[in-house]
Amino acid sequence: MERIQVLVCAGTGCSIGNSGALIDAFRAEIKSMGLENEVSVLRTGCLGLCGVGPNVSIYPDNIIYKSVKVEDVKEIVMEHFYKGRPVHRLMLNESDKETNEVHDINKTKFYEKQKRIALHNCGVIDPENIHEYIAKDGYFALGKVLTEMQPQEVVDEIKESGLRGRGGGGFPTGLKWQFALNEPGDE
Ligand code: FES
Repeated sequence: MERIQVLVCAGTGCSIGNSGALIDAFRAEIKSMGLENEVSVLRTGCLGLCGVGPNVSIYPDNIIYKSVKVEDVKEIVMEHFYKGRPVHRLMLNESDKETNEVHDINKTKFYEKQKRIALHNCGVIDPENIHEYIAKDGYFALGKVLTEMQPQEVVDEIKESGLRGRGGGGFPTGLKWQFALNEPGDE
């Protein structure tokens, strides 16, 4: 079983910074160290930290390496994956000087006041692998809507959520759905 997952950001910003080459470099280095059965490498979506990319997150350690270059890959594989010593010079969130405990990304200044809802899987799963999405309860709400709820209940829940369009007008989504539901017709 794999003990480490390496998630390389393949969002627009990090891709421009050549994160695609990082994926190849990690895979090659991991293989050359004989760690291919213990460490997997996946591409993922934007972490929201584009300004310091290319970014690479490591699970289960919850460490983010920032501004990673192909030349850094050998050191990360050798020091972190092989010897179990994170490479502090590349870490986004340094460890606590007193406890030596590594800070979770959610405790960084950038994220500590944010709660990602629609994008909470971004940077955590492979966006091109539907099984990873399903494993994180993807389509769960759709299944509930289709099997347990009536149309008006769905509209009421959306109204109550306060969801609004993001096209500029900020129109309440629940209201829009209510107009559609009120129209006669099968569709
Ligand atoms: S594109 Fe990588 S963090 Fe945004």
